[in-house]
Amino acid sequence: MSDSVPSLYGGPAGSRVRTRHLQLAKERGEKWAMLTSYDQYTAQIFDEAGIAVLLVGDSAANNVFGYESTLPVTVEEMLPLVRAVVGATNRALVVGDLPFGTYEESPEVALRTAVRFMKEARCHAVKLEGFRPAQIKMITGAGIPVMAHLGFTPQSEHQLGGYRVQGRGDDAAATLLRQAREVVEAGAFAVVLEMVPGDVAKQVTAEIGVPTVGIGAGPDTDAQVLVWQDMAGLRPASAGPTPRFVKKYADLHSVLARAAAEFAADVHDGAFPTADHTF
Ligand code: KIV
Repeated sequence: MSDSVPSLYGGPAGSRVRTRHLQLAKERGEKWAMLTSYDQYTAQIFDEAGIAVLLVGDSAANNVFGYESTLPVTVEEMLPLVRAVVGATNRALVVGDLPFGTYEESPEVALRTAVRFMKEARCHAVKLEGFRPAQIKMITGAGIPVMAHLGFTPQSEHQLGGYRVQGRGDDAAATLLRQAREVVEAGAFAVVLEMVPGDVAKQVTAEIGVPTVGIGAGPDTDAQVLVWQDMAGLRPASAGPTPRFVKKYADLHSVLARAAAEFAADVHDGAFPTADHTF
């Protein structure tokens, strides 16, 4: 782990980040990072790099399964991914994202889905989208930490009219702030704010008692999250323009494309395998 990794991650070897560590970090004014992860190798790399929280997001729909939105992904598809990420990490708190259609109907249905994530995939918390205080109350009442997700919620993209900034204007900002307060009151340990104006995210962050995790919500949230394929530049140009809020820290797409093309050329030319690779 790098020396520059902040104290949030500095517990004894093998100890997990807990929700209380994230709360203490907020109280100290210490920011932390969250990334999505859907497999063992990225989970291990991000864990060792000091990413405090790994989200096995329903964005697996777009980034693993190739669906056009997050709506089709199922619990059966998500659980093996969550299990792989949990099994590959020692430090990060792993959050499993409840798929569309598996929690909205009632608090009881939400609890049943959350219990499957905790029992069958052994994650440490769950996340759900939208203003759902009753579901959050029921799930946290059973001892399961819940991360809320407000602002732009991709599972509602058809209702919201596409990927659009939410909470803009006085009324929408006041509604967002009220909803954030209520999900915290219901028991959420953190709130994701997606595609929210920076000044609104700053106000929510100042006024609620738990960490906010921004994605397209400016610099003033307590934490930041990105989808790892966006962060590392794996996303192909054919997937459409990279959202403005993404910073690309690498160009994995070019690295992999070059490696695959070199491999194909070597095989074609008979340059691979050589005696070194032969038993
Ligand atoms: O599923 C996901 O990747 C998410 C994050 C972008 C917050 O919900």
